[in-house]
Amino acid sequence: MARIAVFNQKGGVGKTTTTLNLAGLLARRGADPLVIDLDPQAHLTSVCGITVPRAEASIYGLYAHGAPLASLTCGTRNGWKLVPSHIELSKVDSQFGKGPAVLGRLAAALEREPAERPVLMDACPMLGVLSLGSVFAADGVIIPISTDYLAMKGALQMERTLKALEQVLKRRVPRRYLITRYDPRRRMSADIERQLRARYGDEVCATRIAENVSIAESPASSQDVFEHAPASRGARDYTELLDELMAGGFIRLAGREVRPAVRTAPPGARTALVAEKEAQARRGNAAGLKLVAMRRIGS
Ligand SMILES: Nc1ncnc2c1ncn2[C@@H]1O[C@H](COP(=O)(O)OP(=O)(O)O)[C@@H](O)[C@H]1O
Ligand SMILES: [Mg+2]
Repeated sequence: MARIAVFNQKGGVGKTTTTLNLAGLLARRGADPLVIDLDPQAHLTSVCGITVPRAEASIYGLYAHGAPLASLTCGTRNGWKLVPSHIELSKVDSQFGKGPAVLGRLAAALEREPAERPVLMDACPMLGVLSLGSVFAADGVIIPISTDYLAMKGALQMERTLKALEQVLKRRVPRRYLITRYDPRRRMSADIERQLRARYGDEVCATRIAENVSIAESPASSQDVFEHAPASRGARDYTELLDELMAGGFIRLAGREVRPAVRTAPPGARTALVAEKEAQARRGNAAGLKLVAMRRIGS
């Protein structure tokens, strides 16, 4: 279990922050992680101070012409390797379709990487080839849940997305829900934690990442929290998180004995993707209509 997708369809929950800090910690422990920025917004790429002149030099190159990951990989000042992103990546679905070959392209590319090398994927929040491709390529998924008022909605949406995928994968996708931006002074933080633990039990990490100013500030200086503020609460929380994930075998550095049965996108993946996307759009529309109706009643 060393290939992890950090995924939540909701934005601003700490996907990039979690990827950045877990990568920094793995590198400090000598693990040489490969990090893949799959978000067309390229936040992680810019935090690393990397600008990619042409889309083909980013992970887009893999989808556009099958470029090997090694040819797209850059070193970072944080001591780990990054396959950067580019805004053109947002066109992958429309340009290359959603067939099994495209959905499985990242998984196939990672098969050429050493099995023991940890891989972290900062997944695209949009439901499509990039996000689902990262789940197909992963041994497990970390789902950061920020303790704000739409947190449970995001968690349920992720549960449904993974369930739709599992129908075609024919296996459960190992996952850990990670509570982020936890603030003990806010009742909402405790309420959301209670709801998550009641629904998802042991799949919720015991470690919570607290709201912490050092975590928020560190990207501005292209640093992870360990470099920026090694004694901070944020550095302690992410250290505890990695220790927990390793102790429980969710991240295993010494080799990857546990291999998922399916490495490529199985037939039916495209149908599941399209069906789930449509269902989510319907649910979104229904919620929107409900909101409009409530506003009308209220006005
Ligand atoms: N534990 C935390 N404490 C304080 N700020 C945080 C924490 N985690 C994330 N942030 C901040 O929240 C914002 C969104 O986080 P980010 O990792 O970019 O989310 P995502 O990648 O899911 O969109 C960023 O400005 C980030 O610095
Ligand atoms: Mg992000």
